[in-house]
Amino acid sequence: MPFLTRLFLKTGLIYLGAGFTFGALMLANKGITFYPALWRLLPVHIEFLLIGWMVQLALGVAHWILPRLWTLGRGDTRFVWLAYGLLNGGIWLVILASLGVLPPFYLFLGRVAEAAAALTFAVHLWPRIVARN
Ligand code: HEM
Repeated sequence: MPFLTRLFLKTGLIYLGAGFTFGALMLANKGITFYPALWRLLPVHIEFLLIGWMVQLALGVAHWILPRLWTLGRGDTRFVWLAYGLLNGGIWLVILASLGVLPPFYLFLGRVAEAAAALTFAVHLWPRIVARN
């Protein structure tokens, strides 16, 4: 399993742990309200689990499992590094803007970074989507 795949998966697992923890706290808080402001974690919970975990898992596994180029292996991995940086940078911009730490414009910027991560990753993968027969 390539280093980048392990990086995507381990980063994703950290988001999974944090996302579940926040979900569990919100759930408990729903039963017995001990800290009403915990609801502010809802966008963080969603971002961590949908983008931080699920998207990151998909990208990491795709990089590992999709066909390799005959002579170039997995190709120019700089695109994958860029996708990793854009995705995780985007996640944090979205979270900090959702929590009010950054102005709302950064939420848009975060989403743009996440979309750019998907695009960069697609550019990297495109030549690898080939038939072997
Ligand atoms: C991969 C797993 C998960 C994903 C993708 C996920 C995603 C979401 C999403 C999208 C919402 C917003 C729903 C809405 O606004 O209608 C939500 C709400 C919530 N989630 Fe999760 N979740 C996951 C796992 C969990 C877990 C394990 C827990 C608790 C242990 C949890 C607790 C909650 C709670 C308490 C809410 C708020 C529900 C409400 O509005 O009353 N989630 N989650």
